[in-house]
Amino acid sequence: MNLDKVICPCKKVKRKAIVKAIAKGATSLKAIEKQTGAISKCGKCKKDVKKLIKRLEEA
Ligand code: FES
Repeated sequence: MNLDKVICPCKKVKRKAIVKAIAKGATSLKAIEKQTGAISKCGKCKKDVKKLIKRLEEA
């Protein structure tokens, strides 16, 4: 997985920022939004963030 890929163009949040937020204890979408800013603007990246969480859980 390319962790440098931008998952949220609005906030320029990369996948690795999401990974980091989870590592720091973010357990919900809300917590990830708070820590990274992803999802907080248009919300279009929400499904991608969800997918990423799922992929990380399965890995
Ligand atoms: S793409 Fe993430 S808030 Fe718009």
